[in-house]
Amino acid sequence: MGILAKNLYVNYGEKEILKNISLEVKKGDIVSIIGPNGSGKSTLIKALSRCIKPVKGSVYIDNEDIFSLSTKQVARKMAILPQSKNTPADITVRELVSYGRYPHLKFGQRLGKKDYEIVDWAIERTKLKEFKNRYLSTLSGGEKQRAWIAMSLAQKPEILLLDEPTTFLDISYQLEVLELVEELNKSLNLTVLMVLHDLNQAARYSDNILVLKDGEIWEYDNPKSILRKKLLKEVFRVDGHIYKDEINHCPYFIPYKVN
Ligand SMILES: Nc1ncnc2c1ncn2[C@@H]1O[C@H](COP(=O)(O)OP(=O)(O)O)[C@@H](O)[C@H]1O
Ligand SMILES: [Mg+2]
Repeated sequence: MGILAKNLYVNYGEKEILKNISLEVKKGDIVSIIGPNGSGKSTLIKALSRCIKPVKGSVYIDNEDIFSLSTKQVARKMAILPQSKNTPADITVRELVSYGRYPHLKFGQRLGKKDYEIVDWAIERTKLKEFKNRYLSTLSGGEKQRAWIAMSLAQKPEILLLDEPTTFLDISYQLEVLELVEELNKSLNLTVLMVLHDLNQAARYSDNILVLKDGEIWEYDNPKSILRKKLLKEVFRVDGHIYKDEINHCPYFIPYKVN
């Protein structure tokens, strides 16, 4: 299942934040959203996941308008990892992951054997077995992020939205999270839409990149077409050189000055 957005407009109060956003994310693709701070990336993730209602336009998953579905119905198809998360103080990894099952339960219903099997499956897929009884507060940043991804997986979604999943992680954890996302995308045919700050990582891990500038789509294309000097200059105000990464078969860039 993919995502289709048509002519989205989103406001905060009187202020127009997103303007005329139309995009399609195909099933099984990884799409990254890039753009300067304040360009509307998080707002777009929220609008696509039904957390904010647009003033105009629609979002469809599986040909259904998400605003005609309930929160639970959406949560069974789509999991979201927001940019800032309120971590409950003293819960274990397994408890956190089990929250992912709630969209599948009826009101007041408890988790059953099948639910716990899925929880353990999600823990295994994110290589957290040895941490499952640890308190979340005792995990490193990278492990914590994996625990949140495990919770998302326990929802058994077809679509995963991640808002800056690598921010605040050191480079090895950044790669670990992105490798995990890529592995889940391939093995489960999970559709992934994520906000990334690092343009080189976006180029390496994405099928397509959506560039947002001042709440509008500047361009939406494959990494090779996106990563050009024009992008660096017009969107990020830097000059840089673009090279080809022969190992990962994608473009990468080195910035050299702000203009
Ligand atoms: N709850 C809010 N109320 C008012 N303005 C907001 C709110 N959230 C974000 N904004 C504004 O919307 C714009 C886009 O924000 P955001 O989507 O968070 O950008 P990004 O994720 O690209 O940094 C910014 O100008 C921001 O100040
Ligand atoms: Mg943001």
